[in-house]
Amino acid sequence: MKKLVVLSGAGMSAESGLRTFRDSDGLWEQHRIEDVATPQAWIRNRALVLEFYNQRRIQVMAAQPNPAHLALVKLESKYDVRIITQNIDDLHERAGSMNVLHLHGEIRKSRSTVDPLLVYQMKTELLNEGDRCEKGSQLRPHIVWFGEMVPELPNAVDIVAQADILIVIGTSLAVYPAASLVGYSGIDCKNYYIDPNANPMHGFQIIRNKAGIAVPELVSELLTQED
Ligand code: OAD
Repeated sequence: MKKLVVLSGAGMSAESGLRTFRDSDGLWEQHRIEDVATPQAWIRNRALVLEFYNQRRIQVMAAQPNPAHLALVKLESKYDVRIITQNIDDLHERAGSMNVLHLHGEIRKSRSTVDPLLVYQMKTELLNEGDRCEKGSQLRPHIVWFGEMVPELPNAVDIVAQADILIVIGTSLAVYPAASLVGYSGIDCKNYYIDPNANPMHGFQIIRNKAGIAVPELVSELLTQED
């Protein structure tokens, strides 16, 4: 099977009703990113950070996969599909994709603040002050904040480097190191970039359209074309 890799960003989930980051005056749901998505914010105002991610979690749990998420699942009948997502939602998994790597963490998981290997699937929407890991430390959202390492980056680089087909969907490619991944596809890889505001990118076929329309179209093309 050919290896098909997807790199998705917030635009992938826009049509599920989840807002993107850079389409709204530099604010994310009325907050400056530094106030809610940095280690400094956690130290300064833990209650605000917990409440902010509680609200995001409630939104994610109410959202449903859209036609773009669902179309990607169909590719698994013909390709070895790996999805690398910058999104913290679980809509790729809920659509049925089997192989999803979350570069920036997962909103429906919590993590120990003393042992990063202790990660827990959350059973409810809310993470509160006083919720502790088995070693007794306060739990934090399992999210990569600005200024933190991206532990899954080396795995993601390996996956992109082996791709026969790379499809980048709904990302401004403004945030590093995630954005650097597009530079790792091999010389023979066929590259696509689907985003209504996509800038030209060397070696990429640009499709300026919404994911909900463009992804199902590209998927049926890839499923019918002779290799
Ligand atoms: P951005 O908000 O930077 O970019 C969203 C992209 O989605 C833009 O390029 C839009 O043009 C595009 N878009 C909007 N609606 C779309 C649709 N219906 N179909 C397809 N594309 C659409 O989001 P990301 O690039 O994902 O990090 O941002 C990267 C990271 O920055 C995020 O993972 C997050 C954020 O801060 C963390 O939370 C650590």
